[in-house]
Amino acid sequence: MKVLTDERRCVGADLAAWMALGGGEGLERALADPAAVIPAIEAAGLRGLGGAGFPTHRKWAAVAAQPGPGKWVVCNGNEDEPGTFKDRFLLSRTPHQVIEGALVAALAVGAATVVLYVNPREAAAVRVLREAVAQWEAHPLLPRLSEALGESLRLLVVTGSGLYVGGEETAAVASVMGGFPFPTLKPPFPAERGVNGAPTLVNNVETLAHAGQILRAGPEWYRGLGLGGAPGTKLFSLSGDVLHPGLHELPMGTPLRSLVFEHGGGMLGGKAFKAVFTGGPSNTLLTADDLDAPLDFDNLRARGSRLGTGAMIVVGEGTSILRKTAEYVAFFAANSCGQCPPCKIGTHQISRILERIEAGAGRPGDLQALENLTELLPGSGRCGLVDGAATVLGSSLKTFRAEYERAVERH
Ligand code: NAI
Repeated sequence: MKVLTDERRCVGADLAAWMALGGGEGLERALADPAAVIPAIEAAGLRGLGGAGFPTHRKWAAVAAQPGPGKWVVCNGNEDEPGTFKDRFLLSRTPHQVIEGALVAALAVGAATVVLYVNPREAAAVRVLREAVAQWEAHPLLPRLSEALGESLRLLVVTGSGLYVGGEETAAVASVMGGFPFPTLKPPFPAERGVNGAPTLVNNVETLAHAGQILRAGPEWYRGLGLGGAPGTKLFSLSGDVLHPGLHELPMGTPLRSLVFEHGGGMLGGKAFKAVFTGGPSNTLLTADDLDAPLDFDNLRARGSRLGTGAMIVVGEGTSILRKTAEYVAFFAANSCGQCPPCKIGTHQISRILERIEAGAGRPGDLQALENLTELLPGSGRCGLVDGAATVLGSSLKTFRAEYERAVERH
């Protein structure tokens, strides 16, 4: 069942149309009993859908527990991970659903400034959001929210740097303050010290969109949408060697096989299924052994992988895992902010070795060198960028080692 991406909810910046569809009900319910909002999010089992899957109610409670005034909510729409294209859809096609969720969050945590932080390359989303914000500013629900908060609510659209690293939450905070998006060490988490040093709730666009719907229709309804005990629905960005790539909203816990062969239409050109880069491509690969795995946070973690953003890049027989891994590591190398030497140098070093092997100029010690780097690099950066590069490399090297060996022997 589609909730967030149901065509009827995709009314663009038309607030009257949104309200006619039951929009505003989530916020009304929150205003009627603000103290019940975080328990409802907890009962629903909502988790952070930007990739980490952190329990949403815990993050909200952490911000709510901090003293105000002056707290912030940042709706993180920087989305730039390879293969991930869900938030731009929500922001441009159903902005009020996202904004309503952000306003519910603001009330729950006691924050009067809400920032819609958007990737400037998503020009359509930026334009639609500005229009949508102007409509909320003229709507009577906003003064009621200000009254409940005891502060005047501000709703801002902020375009970031457009850099990949700007999506990391501490980098997003730096960007909202007008600086370069350098990630910083955690703790302190933004929940304790974020924008201008104030407690800040940073949540992904998809997470906030769900929050509004949970308040509208209730936690039991939300829980019932998922499969096998996993709550809610998930937006899967499906791409690669499948017949029907695109955005698929499916029950959380949908098996990989169903995503690829039913909703994705099966493999392109009748190729055999080989693997999936998940997450964006910063996690352990899924293989044919995982086809019956339910796609949810806990089941993928139990298999040593991660759901991440829900990006699923499918690879069929005939597509080189080495080539794909080299492409993704090159992306991470190009997008390292350069602050942490192991990340800056390590990602480039991996990239150089992979390009060399791929070009048929691999050296005997190259695979050992790559293995060493997968052990040395994780945990050496302020953010997870270098860990992602090392994880995808380590997984592809372990699972498809024969491909690497053949490429080195070719030389
Ligand atoms: P993390 O595990 O460090 O943190 C998860 C969230 O929990 C953060 O918001 C953090 O502030 C919060 N948190 C943790 N402990 C807390 C505490 N005690 N109190 C309050 N809050 C607490 O993960 P991170 O680095 O934020 O995200 C990693 C994920 O992001 C990866 O899975 C990756 O797939 C995804 N990602 C998504 C991108 C996109 O374009 N959407 C780009 C790059 C990565």
